Amino acid sequence: MLDFGCARIAVLVSGGGTNLQALIDAQNANKIVHGKIVLVVSSKADAFALERAKKAGIDCTVVSRKEANSQETFEADILKVLASYDIDLVVLAGFMCILSAAFIQKYPNRIINVHPSLIPSFCGEGFYGLRVHKAALDYGVKVSGATVHFVNEIPDGGKIIMQKAVEVLPDDTPEVLQKRIMEQAEWVILPQAVEYVSNALVKGEQL
Ligand code: GAR
Repeated sequence: MLDFGCARIAVLVSGGGTNLQALIDAQNANKIVHGKIVLVVSSKADAFALERAKKAGIDCTVVSRKEANSQETFEADILKVLASYDIDLVVLAGFMCILSAAFIQKYPNRIINVHPSLIPSFCGEGFYGLRVHKAALDYGVKVSGATVHFVNEIPDGGKIIMQKAVEVLPDDTPEVLQKRIMEQAEWVILPQAVEYVSNALVKGEQL
């Protein structure tokens, strides 16, 4: 059970941050009420997501994967900043780095990720960003979508929280399909999942 009826959320990003924006918008629209985004951490210094955080008045910081000497240092630096903000829930929203089992064990059932396909299709190591949509189109699937899941030591292998299917159309390119999946699925289910998990954390419910 959390102290003040509100889960303190950190969002980890690496790029454009449209999923972060969906979370900020949902928070402003009172669709996320049991959690509050208090921190944005970017693995890249030039991520546009940082501008979105600043515009929304949310503290943000860069922990550069490129500049870290090792995965251990990178993760230790992220853990330090999460601890200093007393974070209850970590949301990976377009965070393009794999986290080790040691990191994940520090936040059991408290790290969630949005993935742009219907897991277990087109997921796991090497499947990120446009590569996921290219693989779906190459395979010829007629339906794809997005998944929000808990993060465990298997890449994209944790328990599924929410999924939403999206139609694949004959002339889709990876870019067109990515945009449709973001608009129709990711930006819808990620805020819903964040509210769902925050609510459970606040009430001390088993996840
Ligand atoms: C999103 O489509 C997200 O699902 C995907 O990267 C994009 C980031 O966009 N994440 C992965 O592929 C992780 N495996 P954003 O920075 O605009 O939110």
